[in-house]
Amino acid sequence: MKTGIILTGVVLSIAFSLVVNADSAIDELNMGLSQTSVFDTPTPEAFTYSTAKAGKSEVLPRAWPGIPPLIPHRIDEYLPIVAEDNQCRDCHEKPKLIGREPRKGKSPMSRSHYVDQRGDSDEMSDELVGARFVCTQCHVPQSGAPALVENTFQLTD
Ligand code: HEC
Ligand code: HEC
Repeated sequence: MKTGIILTGVVLSIAFSLVVNADSAIDELNMGLSQTSVFDTPTPEAFTYSTAKAGKSEVLPRAWPGIPPLIPHRIDEYLPIVAEDNQCRDCHEKPKLIGREPRKGKSPMSRSHYVDQRGDSDEMSDELVGARFVCTQCHVPQSGAPALVENTFQLTD
């Protein structure tokens, strides 16, 4: 008798939870950032990257201190970055200019790019540290793509 009551209780609670779940199920239009059904082939508007040449662009504001600065110029002609060919270094690897007055057309990588952060030493090496070799791992160019979701973030400086 007791077992019967317990079993009925279990069956009822499972049935109840199924009903509740059916009501709160997330439909496919709200599952991701895409605003169309998963069965559609979306055709978002095309966007383009800046066409400004390196040396002819303006540096962009930094969203917060310490952020890798955004790339203000086009980079398609310098990609891909491979072990034998990293053209970003040709212009940005100017350790002697670090700490000097900024000059038109010069944008030296900062000191941090020459310090191996895996060790305890804060010493600056003569060479770019390997962990900083693939610049686009941290620095990104900008396009005119609209934000996927509303964003109320404000720049801090
Ligand atoms: C022909 C020289 C040249 C090449 C090659 C080049 N840059 Fe630049 N870059 C500059 C100059 C000069 C600036 C400063 C803005 C300007 O004058 O266009 C700059 C700006 C930047 C900035 C912003 C710096 C800041 O203080 O806000 C980043 C980040 C950057 N470049 C990354 C890259 C990466 C990554 C590559 C390779 C994919 C690259 N650059 C290739 C010359 C170059
Ligand atoms: C692991 C991430 C990372 C990689 C990889 C990286 N950077 Fe940076 N970079 C940063 C950060 C973070 C800053 C800003 C803070 C700082 O200066 O350390 C910065 C700053 C800069 C600046 C601005 C310097 C200044 O004085 O404000 C330039 C230019 C730059 N990087 C170029 C490059 C280039 C070119 C490469 C590739 C050879 C590269 N970075 C690779 C993270 C990275």
